[in-house]
Amino acid sequence: MSTAIQEKNSQYFIELENRYGAHNYHPLPVVLEKGEGVFVWDVEGKKYYDFLSAYSAVNQGHSHPKIVEALVNQAKKLALTSRAFYNSNLGEYEKKITTLFGFDKVLPMNSGAEAVETAVKLARKWSYEVKGISENDAKIIVCENNFHGRTTTIVSFSNDPDANQNYGPFTPGFIKIPYNDLAALEEIFKNDAKNIAAFLTEPIQGEAGVYVPDEGFLKGASDLCKKYNVLFIADEVQTGIARTGRLIACHHEDVQPDILVLGKALSGGMYPVSAVLANDEIMKVIKPGQHGSTFGGNPLACAVAVAALDVVEEEKLSERAEALGQLFRSEIEKLIQKTSLITKVRGKGLLNAILINDTPDSKTAWNLCVKLKENGLLAKPTHGNIIRLAPPLVITEEQLLDCVKIIEKTVLEFGN
Ligand SMILES: Cc1ncc(COP(=O)(O)O)c(C=O)c1O
Repeated sequence: MSTAIQEKNSQYFIELENRYGAHNYHPLPVVLEKGEGVFVWDVEGKKYYDFLSAYSAVNQGHSHPKIVEALVNQAKKLALTSRAFYNSNLGEYEKKITTLFGFDKVLPMNSGAEAVETAVKLARKWSYEVKGISENDAKIIVCENNFHGRTTTIVSFSNDPDANQNYGPFTPGFIKIPYNDLAALEEIFKNDAKNIAAFLTEPIQGEAGVYVPDEGFLKGASDLCKKYNVLFIADEVQTGIARTGRLIACHHEDVQPDILVLGKALSGGMYPVSAVLANDEIMKVIKPGQHGSTFGGNPLACAVAVAALDVVEEEKLSERAEALGQLFRSEIEKLIQKTSLITKVRGKGLLNAILINDTPDSKTAWNLCVKLKENGLLAKPTHGNIIRLAPPLVITEEQLLDCVKIIEKTVLEFGN
């Protein structure tokens, strides 16, 4: 690439990333430089509907003015103190998030994976110090095809070879059972509940392809956990903050997890903010010096998260996601009648996926996403031939129907 004056077009930026960045992602060939609400623009000025929302981080829409204002004002005042000192934003944020989600305490972190790690540590410590499991015997039950992040411990209990191949040796203490299988959960509890600290699950498996469990799974799992004195940990990093039509997906079944993990849209995608929520009986086991993060709970993160949560409430994003999600799925059902390319639509609220009629290793879903991009809508395949469709929750009904038209046109052009 020449250093002489050259047009900085998409190709230029793609080559730059290819040349200087690790190749740990395979992005769709589009280079974005601006976002507003449900729209993003590429460097050539082409406008797109964003149907990924940064993996459900941008629920409140791109550059939401209220969140931007909170970020800018706080950045001018004080960004980072570390937890060596108190700061005048953290307590207010803690009060807001615990009240909103109904927990005694919150432990602030930054990324989703860090929050999951925190939940794992918290559950283990509780199991030794409160439940009374013998040292190093604690087990955590997880589900097959889970996605909880990328740290060494988290990939230790993944069964996706891309996620864990050649990253061993792995952290022990995790047992996988099939997702959505209450009988398997009860079986394992019956055999060994005294050594089980927690059951960790996504209320809908997002990365795996938006797998919605049977109705009653969350309630059943939560009840079993209570019966056997096991903590129910809900990883709502992707499903939380109104995405599925409720503040958290567990609320679809009136379940209050023992430990709730949030991230992504907790900041409206403006800044990495994650959180672990639990009641005192559990949270009290972590004492000063036993866990933390330089950035967790910093004033900037707190100001942004308070604004992001305000937006969720003020703009009734849960209600919007619920109503528009139903409309979206019913419109896609109509499209399925006209094509054999899509076999199914599934999801809750505005976390949905379509299943493409081809083998998992085919390129059909990818090629369809490239065509969708050309027609002005950005989406990405997840695990083979499944395309996740998750627009910002601020999308209007008119915009959503416009998107359905784009999807329909693209699918019908693509052929069967
Ligand atoms: C359910 C779930 N948990 C955890 C994570 C990890 O979050 P992060 O990428 O912020 O570490 C993700 C990310 O997609 C997720 O979907």
